[in-house]
Amino acid sequence: MMNPFLLKGYLDKDHFCDRDEETEKIITAVRNRQDLTIHAYRRIGKSALLKHVEAQVDKEFYFIYADIWGTSSVSDFLREISNGIIQSTIFSKRGIGKRLQEFIKSIGTSFTIGLDGRPSIDVIYNDQASIFKSLQELITFLNNQDKPVVLAIDEFQEIKKYDSVNIPIEATLRKITQDSQNIRFIYSGSEYHLINEIFNTYNRPFYQSTRMMQLGVIPKMKYQEFILAHFKKARKPIEAILVGQILDFAYVHTYYVQAIFNYLFGLAKVPSNWNEFEHVYHPFIEEKGVFYAELPDRITPQQFVVTKAFAKAGIVKSPTGAEFLRLANFTNSSSMRRAVKALEEKQIIIKDGEFFRIYDVFLGHYLKFSF
Ligand SMILES: Nc1ncnc2c1ncn2[C@@H]1O[C@H](COP(=O)(O)OP(=O)(O)OP(=O)(O)O)[C@@H](O)[C@H]1O
Ligand SMILES: [Mg+2]
Repeated sequence: MMNPFLLKGYLDKDHFCDRDEETEKIITAVRNRQDLTIHAYRRIGKSALLKHVEAQVDKEFYFIYADIWGTSSVSDFLREISNGIIQSTIFSKRGIGKRLQEFIKSIGTSFTIGLDGRPSIDVIYNDQASIFKSLQELITFLNNQDKPVVLAIDEFQEIKKYDSVNIPIEATLRKITQDSQNIRFIYSGSEYHLINEIFNTYNRPFYQSTRMMQLGVIPKMKYQEFILAHFKKARKPIEAILVGQILDFAYVHTYYVQAIFNYLFGLAKVPSNWNEFEHVYHPFIEEKGVFYAELPDRITPQQFVVTKAFAKAGIVKSPTGAEFLRLANFTNSSSMRRAVKALEEKQIIIKDGEFFRIYDVFLGHYLKFSF
């Protein structure tokens, strides 16, 4: 039987837990011609949610998904959006040939044929006038479709990192989006300060131009039911109490929950209590050690001490409070404040609701077990 706990992507609604309200809200927004910005921590399930929405509305809209993670110029941006369009149902099998060629010609670029038999856009020029002209062509193309288009741009904060001293990228994109009657934009991103800067700064082009949605964790009870149902269906009973404990242990952070239950599902014998769980979990987390070996190079020795204290504590309400200072062996609350701020900036720890914790759940577990 297939392991029902996916470690990447989206399959169908049976392998997707809850998010009913969020899905409804997004669909309502696009039906009402509202643009939307979604913010969530990394690995909470932004991309999967977008795919889930796509699966619900793909008759009504052409849904285009582009992930611009790691792009560093407007040229890269254009490439990713173009590839999103090529992969979308706009070019469903029937129409693939001529219309696709015309589209590629209209944005004036070269392409290669990928393994899936579809072309993918390749080289794009470096003169800015052509790039913006192509971007304009592309938007015109979308505006002329026979159905409304949803253009979801994942990791939108990357545009903040573009090396574009001479091009007002935000202003230009804003202008383009305002001329797009047929397109609903969904922006999503994981770096809150950048997303906030783009959409919530008074003198910036995108200021309050979209609805905002904060994507939190899946409610624990919903996730517990989902997990129990999948184990039951596979005739691998697991204790509800243990599932609840593991969810707490992983702060209900989606990716980590998926990874742990994917692992447990694959074991010959499912653990029946916390002790048995710890026993099988140790080697799993030890194996992750290779990913964390370089951590001491990224942070100062003092920050490392604080990180280990977070690992020990789990969640911390007040890092500068007496209790946590004692745990970390600090006497000075202002140096603690500085260390916490630096660790937040380096995305080692996050403020998750009222509490601070280590961002990467497995890093926390690894440090807790091995020091
Ligand atoms: N509602 C859900 N039910 C079950 N699994 C989910 C759900 N949402 C996401 N996942 C799974 O959790 C993992 C992380 O999801 P996803 O990649 O969508 O997160 P993300 O927030 O986009 O992460 P990143 O910041 O790395 O881009 C994936 O394995 C995905 O299949
Ligand atoms: Mg993602």
